[in-house]
Amino acid sequence: MNNHHDIIIAGGGAAGLYAAIFAGRRGRRVLVLDHAEKVGKKILISGGGRCNFTNLDAKPDRYLSANPHFAISALKRHTQHDFIALVDRHGIGWHEKKLGQLFCDDGAPRILGMLLDECADAGVAIRTECRIDDVVPVDGGGFRVVTSHGTFTSDSFILATGGPSIPKMGATDFAFRLARQWGLNVVEPRPALVPLTFAPVDLDKLKDLSGVPLEASVSCGKGKFREALLITHRGLSGPSILQISSYWREEQGVRIDLSPDLALAEHLKGLKKTRHKAELKTILGEILPRRFAERLFDVALIGPAPLANRPMADIKDADLMAVASALHAWTVHPDGTEGYRTAEVTLGGIDTAELSSKTMEARKIPGLFVVGEAVDVTGWLGGYNFQWAWSSGHAAGMAA
Ligand code: FDA
Repeated sequence: MNNHHDIIIAGGGAAGLYAAIFAGRRGRRVLVLDHAEKVGKKILISGGGRCNFTNLDAKPDRYLSANPHFAISALKRHTQHDFIALVDRHGIGWHEKKLGQLFCDDGAPRILGMLLDECADAGVAIRTECRIDDVVPVDGGGFRVVTSHGTFTSDSFILATGGPSIPKMGATDFAFRLARQWGLNVVEPRPALVPLTFAPVDLDKLKDLSGVPLEASVSCGKGKFREALLITHRGLSGPSILQISSYWREEQGVRIDLSPDLALAEHLKGLKKTRHKAELKTILGEILPRRFAERLFDVALIGPAPLANRPMADIKDADLMAVASALHAWTVHPDGTEGYRTAEVTLGGIDTAELSSKTMEARKIPGLFVVGEAVDVTGWLGGYNFQWAWSSGHAAGMAA
């Protein structure tokens, strides 16, 4: 057997398979190696099994990175519309769920099937259950890849093993270990798109409310998201919280506007005249989920309990304003996140300063390319991370 290939790709996830397709189409002999029993496992579980495969608004400002400009080139050269065109060519139905998020009508296996068909057409070889033990750049060019299936050699090597989020799915920090071994800088990785947890003292206040969904605008640092929020038995989750988790750092507060569409101070003052006999808790129960409104005062989120049972006419404007301010700026102090166990992605990764933004090739190690989640480029929730996998995979596949 000839163990030499033009390109070896470590990792048969979204980015690795996509890079393989474009390299194979260029006539390169490509071998994809993956330690899992099958490739594309995260694609299969993504988007609740329907794969949110891209976003109509995939723009560079939807990505976090130490260098926010890095993603521009790859995203521009292979856009969401290029990926949609491929999906259409394969006759795969899709729909926009919300906020530009595109999902498969018939489920994620259609997307993985499409990638595997394209790989087969492009003559890509794939080996699963193949553990990579070491990768050594060879003097004079090329790579020696030592695996549980023996040693392979290649001219180019594409590192596409993703990040450590959800180890149960076979995720590892292999890319970061290899990068450090080769002297490439790694921007400190941390779990992202992940639920936030509370300390026991705060959980005690909220635990009865577990399962209550709220519409909110959530902000922290430079991030602000207006989407659903869910109280859980560990803390907070839901799309707005997953989004803000990428911006949150230890010790920071997260600010939650529980009435993002209604200016509460004016609204409550107006109701003093029209609903003067109604109790404040009744009024709040019309604005917020009733179970949440009833508990607001007990759990001391917005001031003294006696206020709740008072008719609107008897409440001072200053007290109503205080209630309004508390609901517009409920500030919580998470004690952590649920970690890599449930994080959808890894923030940080191989420093973009080490890579060409056009080809994804490492500056210090010619022939080495890094793509997908292993790179310090992390998208918002909503199909942005797959688009980065497609765009960065395409960039490397066209250059390697
Ligand atoms: P990915 O993790 O997909 O692939 C890496 C591959 O490398 C895996 O096949 C792994 O087995 C292999 N590997 C790892 N270490 C190895 C080693 N040492 N040797 C050999 N092989 C190794 N994004 C999005 O845009 N829309 C969505 O709907 C979702 N939904 C979603 C749900 C859940 C539950 C998760 C966990 C994540 C998502 N994501 C998402 C994020 C998305 O899945 C993620 O950004 C991409 O899969 C990243 O693609 P990569 O190819 O870079 O890594």
